[in-house]
Amino acid sequence: MGAGVLTAASPPFPRRGGVLHCGAHSLERLAIQYQTPLYVYNGDRILERKRTLEEAFAGLETDGPGTALTPDPTTSRAGPGHRPSNRASARQGAPSPLLVAYSVKANPNLAVLELLARDGAGADIVSGGELYRALRAGIPAERIVFAGVGKSADELRQGIEAGIMSFHVESAQELDALGALAAEMGAVAPVAVRVNPDVQSFTHEFTSTGHAAAKFGVSPGEAHGMYRCAAAHPALRAVGVDVHIGSQIRDPAPFLRALDVVVEVAERARRELGIELGYVDLGGGFGISDGEAGALDVHTLGREVADRLRGRGLDLILEPGRFLVGDAGVLITCVLYVKQSGKKTFVVTDAGMTELIRPSHYGGVHSVSPVRENGRARVERVDVVGPVCEQGDFLARDRPLPLPRPGALLSVHQAGAYGFTMASNYNSRPRPAEVLVHGEHVTLARRRERYDDLIRGETDD
Ligand code: LLP
Repeated sequence: MGAGVLTAASPPFPRRGGVLHCGAHSLERLAIQYQTPLYVYNGDRILERKRTLEEAFAGLETDGPGTALTPDPTTSRAGPGHRPSNRASARQGAPSPLLVAYSVKANPNLAVLELLARDGAGADIVSGGELYRALRAGIPAERIVFAGVGKSADELRQGIEAGIMSFHVESAQELDALGALAAEMGAVAPVAVRVNPDVQSFTHEFTSTGHAAAKFGVSPGEAHGMYRCAAAHPALRAVGVDVHIGSQIRDPAPFLRALDVVVEVAERARRELGIELGYVDLGGGFGISDGEAGALDVHTLGREVADRLRGRGLDLILEPGRFLVGDAGVLITCVLYVKQSGKKTFVVTDAGMTELIRPSHYGGVHSVSPVRENGRARVERVDVVGPVCEQGDFLARDRPLPLPRPGALLSVHQAGAYGFTMASNYNSRPRPAEVLVHGEHVTLARRRERYDDLIRGETDD
């Protein structure tokens, strides 16, 4: 595994009087009020993580040629004919060389998006549905970038109509389709080519996207050809270059190798094609601690990236998902039964793979702890399993845990990213509620599903 740092910063869900809290609110009280399984998000923590990232990249040059391309607020959200700027300004009227474009897929709840929108975040989206959510939450179109290998014609059209900042194009055919569509609509589509830098990122194979055998992006050579096409196309405008190498990466080295590759793509486009790209998008994937392994040192990464970009006139976009919301969320679940089978002890909970699929799908590790401490309980190695009829339905395996009693509440940590958003109705289980705590306020960000939600669209009513 890559280098990781375990930090001693204040926990997002501290224990007070033996009970886990989110801000001023006890998780026990929230579980009683909203029932379990329940997702709880700490909004203050999300904003704190965004600031941490911004501080880590504060060394970026603010007056390079890239930052000279100030966005024109009068053209924002313009329809066909709109020619967006290629600047990555984080806040309107306050030119910045950094745009934090939150990766909506990590946690697309509107309340989370609205919180980030108010704090000046942009969005990294991969579907028309995510575009809809991002706009709905008030994220300005000119701060939205659209990635994905399979954007449909409808989705491309929606992006053009909204006047998004840029399409992160992943194939020559997609570039052709986008150019033809933009021309038909009388618009100019802003594009950045997503480059596959062929770097190994040493994460789970399903979340490693920057190696040559992955479906994402195109080779640096092919990217150059695509910039040549874009430059010659009246309905396309090359505004940046993009890379995203994977998720939950703890070592800065692969990010820097990928950055070197895309910076060279941008330099070559300038040298040979006379194209001045406005930004580099380094993607997301910044690893967080799961209680066992450490986190990516974003301060080291930020310094190194700033050094490499100095004097190049390129702004920077980052697309963090998990880094912003991962440890800002917990899944609270209630113990139904404790059973012994052979030499194993199973703690059966009311949440399982339907609520949090990461343990069974990626072998994802999430720390599990009792919501209320019980000093008298003896610690045993247990499997925490859900009620779903699959042997692969577990939240934790062979984990030391103070043996809980039925009715006790457990908190599954680092569940704010890729938790609810990957939840399913398998076994006809209604999906859980989501609650956002921000300052004093508790918002029911999504109500628990009911049985009639399960059959919506299957009946006439
Ligand atoms: N940008 C792009 C183009 C992406 O595809 C992703 C995530 C991100 C940014 C954000 O990555 P993050 O900062 O959250 O690591 N379901 C998996 C993770 C899949 C990530 C997919 N792409 C998991 O639960 O580990």
